[in-house]
Amino acid sequence: TLAALTLAASLASGTAAFAQCDPGEMTIKFSHVTNADRHPKGIAAQLFADRVNEEMNGRVCVEVYPNSTLYDDDKVLEAMLAGDVQMAAPSLSKFEAFTKVFSIFDLPFMFKNMDAVDEFQASEVGQEMKASMERRGLLGLEFWHSGMKQFSANTPLVLPEDAEGLKFRVQPSDVLIAQMEALGASPQPMAFSEVYGALQMGVVDGQENTWSNIYGQKFHEVQDGITETNHGVLDYLVVVSVDWWDGLDPAVRDDLSRILHEVTETRNAQVNEVEAKSRQAIIDAGYTVRELTPEQRAAWAATMRPVWDQFKDGIGEEKIDFAQEVNT
Ligand code: LMR
Repeated sequence: TLAALTLAASLASGTAAFAQCDPGEMTIKFSHVTNADRHPKGIAAQLFADRVNEEMNGRVCVEVYPNSTLYDDDKVLEAMLAGDVQMAAPSLSKFEAFTKVFSIFDLPFMFKNMDAVDEFQASEVGQEMKASMERRGLLGLEFWHSGMKQFSANTPLVLPEDAEGLKFRVQPSDVLIAQMEALGASPQPMAFSEVYGALQMGVVDGQENTWSNIYGQKFHEVQDGITETNHGVLDYLVVVSVDWWDGLDPAVRDDLSRILHEVTETRNAQVNEVEAKSRQAIIDAGYTVRELTPEQRAAWAATMRPVWDQFKDGIGEEKIDFAQEVNT
């Protein structure tokens, strides 16, 4: 099935882009939670679908469901194990019920930029992580990047003390919960699709996310400003169920792997640009972006870095040391 027309029409109308799968084609549902056209993950998922739908036309058809229209991230992995969805790319913070190996990516100030994340993941240590959930029925195929996380709240955040006593939405990760507690703030785990409403209603005061997620979800419109802390990373694992993947015709599996790998290399190389566009769009729309002096940023790091000690035994000190080696 060629999805180009459907895609153009749906981008124009702002709705989800569905390929119309032909009878006889194997359908792959790809579920994710961000927008489809301005977000590193949304763009990558759509490019993957477009390429499969063109290059494997007649055999395989990918339908992308963006914007949590099919599943929130807290449901998608169970749905995948039940065979109701075939592909997803949840953030690494969302796999804790299946494995703790990804906790290292949530540690604050562990990686200085996405290049360091990329290098770490390309190593043997990083590549082995993709297979860490096989016994639980899930297989990671590729890491996809988003970007560095920034803080925002309904009051100005300049120094870590400014976060004290505030409620922050976090992804459901013990590391991120500990990070907010280190700031003296109150962490509130919540699905991504609920964050805008919670900020708007004052159920939470603030949040942390990438420029693309802040802009894509309009968080800036219901916050005092965005503080450029670059304190953590947001990264994804493209994941499938072992049963489904192993059951594929080997030629189909090879073609899907090759296309996914090419899309990963192409799009991961573009993430800094996509993130920078979202950052600029927030500024152009007249909202406040607070840049920190090196001293101010160091104060955030000093307050949050003790979190490493709480998790270093579980993660393995050798992994942390290795991550710091590639981080120079
Ligand atoms: C979040 O829940 O904040 C992010 O994981 C959303 C996403 O997938 O980028």
